[in-house]
Amino acid sequence: MSASSPDLSGRHLLLGVTGSIAAYKAAPLIRRFKDAGAEVRVLMTAGAERFITPLTLGTLSEGEVLTDIFPENEEGSWTKHVTLGEWADLFVVAPATAQTIAKLAHGFCDSMLTATALSARCPLLVCPAMDREMYRHAATQENLERLREIGYDVMPAAHGELASGLVGKGRMPEPEAIRTRVAKMLDESQSVASTLGERSDNRSLEGTSVLVTAGPTQEPFDPVRVLTNRSTGTMGHALAQSAARRGGQVTLVTGPTTLSPPENVEVVRVETAEEMNDVVQAHRETADFVFMAAAVADYAPAETADAKLKKDDDDLVLHLRRTPDILKEIGKHKRPGQTLVGFAMETDNAHENARRKLEEKNLDWIVLNDLTEEGAGFGPSTNRVTLLSREGTSEDLPLMPKLEVAEAILDRVLAARSEERA
Ligand code: CTP
Repeated sequence: MSASSPDLSGRHLLLGVTGSIAAYKAAPLIRRFKDAGAEVRVLMTAGAERFITPLTLGTLSEGEVLTDIFPENEEGSWTKHVTLGEWADLFVVAPATAQTIAKLAHGFCDSMLTATALSARCPLLVCPAMDREMYRHAATQENLERLREIGYDVMPAAHGELASGLVGKGRMPEPEAIRTRVAKMLDESQSVASTLGERSDNRSLEGTSVLVTAGPTQEPFDPVRVLTNRSTGTMGHALAQSAARRGGQVTLVTGPTTLSPPENVEVVRVETAEEMNDVVQAHRETADFVFMAAAVADYAPAETADAKLKKDDDDLVLHLRRTPDILKEIGKHKRPGQTLVGFAMETDNAHENARRKLEEKNLDWIVLNDLTEEGAGFGPSTNRVTLLSREGTSEDLPLMPKLEVAEAILDRVLAARSEERA
């Protein structure tokens, strides 16, 4: 291991190789993983075997290379995808073709590689490699976005000369860049895992009622037009999902989003701030926890036209009126033992503004998205937040998939609550 290379000693890495010309780069990638001390097992699709042989990758990885989901001569080995999924600390698909990306995005399991991806419980990194137009195609980009939503990490393809002779984005990221990303992902997942482990005794929401809001609101000014914002609802959905997994009775009040509702969650769909307020205030008395992750419009058109507005004039002035401050209202009526968590999106004086909101709205916690920090905010898959508490603590969480951010928020909130009660 060289002085500057990351330390992957004892780490179990699964490398999935698919049928791209960049499959030859799997060889130096395995070398780099091995140099850093990792144990490597390789899964290849049939397409990958057209570009590089299992013998080459097996020799370099010093382990077996699996290609077939139903190997002919090995009894009982059809469950290998499950044992491998459990064995791995991290699963890297490099190069990932458009075909494999599409399969992963939609849960196909027609090969050893895709079946193992479905079984794996570890973080998964996808490194696309394909021709420029295939990479640019809306279908591929949507599939990559879907992978990010599921919680996979996706490295953008690199720019450069492609096998077709075209120049553009589509090259597999360089092995060194992949190794660096892998080391970072392993560090982050270890810190989340150790936090989860520390708090494992007080993570349950069994017997509690949890109210979560998510998404944007839409404020109509005529029958076809609305004022809204760019919230995707992902953070609120993630909170609802992890609260339900911990046994809470969860109601998710969501503005319009394209997300599917999480399992075991009661979903109430609303459009306007006014509608969200009605539903939330109706649950105010019973909720033990309120997570107000929705991006509620602060202003709505004072009037909604009955018919579509025509472009009769050069200027159109909309008269807007304040919407109810839903969270402030709950804060005013806060019950003893109730925990209120707000969210703040700030561009300047972030900490100061967030703390002011925490106090003004009588909250226990506020989750700050500082929009000047890279990775924070409405982006669909990951988030970087700071957690501020009523007690004056402030904790910066690393950039993580939103589901892990949700887990970390719930851990902190529940640990503090159980300390209070002890
Ligand atoms: N919020 C709410 N009702 C509103 C506006 C915001 O319940 N009408 C909630 C949000 O869901 C969030 C918190 O209040 O949890 C803070 O939202 P934010 O928009 O950042 O703060 P505002 O109080 O609206 O202040 P400003 O827009 O001036 O920054």
